[in-house]
Amino acid sequence: MNAVVFGFPGNELLVNSISDALNAERGIITIHRFPDEESLVRIEANFAGKEIVVVATLDHPDNKILPLYFLCKKLKAEGAKTLTLIAPYLAYMRQDKSFHLGEIVSSDYFAALLSSFVDRLITVDPHLHRHHSLREIFTIPCHVVHSSSAISSWIRDKVDNPVLIGPDSESRQWVSQVASEIHAPYVILNKERLSDRSVKISFPDAEKYKSFTPVIMDDIISTAHTMIETIHHLKEVNLKPTVCIGVHALFVENAYEQLIHTAANMIATCNTIPHSSNKINVHELIIQELRDTIV
Ligand code: R5P
Repeated sequence: MNAVVFGFPGNELLVNSISDALNAERGIITIHRFPDEESLVRIEANFAGKEIVVVATLDHPDNKILPLYFLCKKLKAEGAKTLTLIAPYLAYMRQDKSFHLGEIVSSDYFAALLSSFVDRLITVDPHLHRHHSLREIFTIPCHVVHSSSAISSWIRDKVDNPVLIGPDSESRQWVSQVASEIHAPYVILNKERLSDRSVKISFPDAEKYKSFTPVIMDDIISTAHTMIETIHHLKEVNLKPTVCIGVHALFVENAYEQLIHTAANMIATCNTIPHSSNKINVHELIIQELRDTIV
């Protein structure tokens, strides 16, 4: 394929897999951060007239978005044919409503910003709640990779007699899909968010799942409070030790250690954001989507 792949720091595994699978050249990008925190981006590659793939998972987006913008503008200005952004984790999708007076709906502006400098986007299970599709907020073609098949095969391999548990109504879309793939029961709990770092969970119907292994599934683990509160609740109602699965492992500050401390039996995340909990590989699914998209 006549393609060049650039990867932001931290995305080397996926960049190497893409480059090997598609026989694409690896472009070199260096991002220098000045003491005043401005960035200088430098690239090396012969890319004019070629398909360009930029891999940048967008956790910590505020640090990444300007260097990404500079890179993409330069690539287009110098004659890149098309520019595909692979952002396995797509940031800012949770702020999809003005929850309090004067709050800005960042999801819409972030989508408009990305749409203004890349030609297409590939991402994994974006957080879609009030928006039903990325098409509602992006003006470029967006390709969504679903992690459910990878998660299903991990659960089939590792967990006996699972009952899937979604901590809130938004998780129903992922939980119900995986449950149907592995023919397991599922329960969606009620979550009330009290603040950034505090949530209240309720699970009215626990008795009938005593012999199952509870598997909590969520798209994003950030402070891990959603998972931790859910585990506490499952302990109170005497369910077996819990398995936690997250698609996107943000794990801010010491969230991962806190989750381990809460005695989650196993914690597994997809490798959309590099983290030591990555046990579920979605890179092949991303590469397949890229193949279908740009070949
Ligand atoms: C919420 O809308 C998401 O689906 C996750 O439930 C949430 O981001 C988890 O956040 P935390 O780990 O901070 O509780």
